[in-house]
Amino acid sequence: MRIDRTTLRAAFSRFLTGVTVVTTRTATGEPVGFTANSFSSVSLNPPMLLVCPGNHLSNFHVFRDATQFGVSILAEGQEAVSNLFASRAADRFANCDWEEAGGMPLIAGRAAGFVCTTSSVVAAGDHIVLIGQVSHFDDAARPGLGYGPDGYFSQAKERKAEAADAAATRASVLLEDGARIYLTDQGQLPMVPVERGQSPLSALEAGLVARHVRADLSVVYAIYDEADSRRHIVFRGRTKGTQPGLQAHEIATLDAAGVKNTAVRPLLERFQQEHRTQSFGLYVGDAEAGDVLPVQGRD
Ligand SMILES: Cc1cc2nc3c(=O)[nH]c(=O)nc-3n(C[C@H](O)[C@H](O)[C@H](O)COP(=O)(O)O)c2cc1C
Repeated sequence: MRIDRTTLRAAFSRFLTGVTVVTTRTATGEPVGFTANSFSSVSLNPPMLLVCPGNHLSNFHVFRDATQFGVSILAEGQEAVSNLFASRAADRFANCDWEEAGGMPLIAGRAAGFVCTTSSVVAAGDHIVLIGQVSHFDDAARPGLGYGPDGYFSQAKERKAEAADAAATRASVLLEDGARIYLTDQGQLPMVPVERGQSPLSALEAGLVARHVRADLSVVYAIYDEADSRRHIVFRGRTKGTQPGLQAHEIATLDAAGVKNTAVRPLLERFQQEHRTQSFGLYVGDAEAGDVLPVQGRD
């Protein structure tokens, strides 16, 4: 089989890894380091780990000949540090926070750090396998930064996105300021995912507060199931003045037909009509069909 370098690299990248910065000092004491995902734990007793420096590294000989080296496992949010130590920048240590620990330079804010005494160096093609015995380690118990075929990933971010995606309900608001309504830059209603067990009203309130949007939420305007079977609850709400991330539109002249979301479009058209007569109903149904129920005024 003819092995192509690019496709082989892609196949290797299916193995999801963390990201480390491997460090040591030159003979004159200068700290040097590079980004590596070839890290692996090797042995608990004695404690050993490995990394694979490539012969392309500008400081390859320094790592090959080092008697001691450090490994900082980067934490979530340290993408810039990873990029810095994977770049051609000469002044890497001047551009990041680092500290001396166990006799080696380690990256500050790391998820975990190790200092090793080199126990063996194995030649392996265009890389070497640098095996070290751990003489010092620390563990900040922060989640590590992930790396895969699509670049960096973060467990916390993915979990949050998944939770939002899995949310069964979404809540949004028809946010009025007199004769005007506020929509997002994309012409959508301000919307938040409602996690399981959360009240749609408090989820929406919290979501708006997080976006620094002031809103006094009042009645429910529509409850419908979307095509992906998620429930959408639309509230009415009042506000005053400019709101961050939102655009004010005159309700009377708003081009509801230009709204992309096909479920929101008829809702806005109905709202425009009802706003004219100031007689509002409650829509219950799905994105295609449903009933507008009259809302009883208070006696
Ligand atoms: C996520 C990631 C992982 C990397 N892993 C390794 C590795 O394990 N071994 C290696 O030699 N280079 C690895 N590199 C490449 C080096 O970090 C990169 O070539 C760096 O610029 C080398 O430093 P230099 O400029 O001093 O040569 C990796 C780069 C990235 C972005």
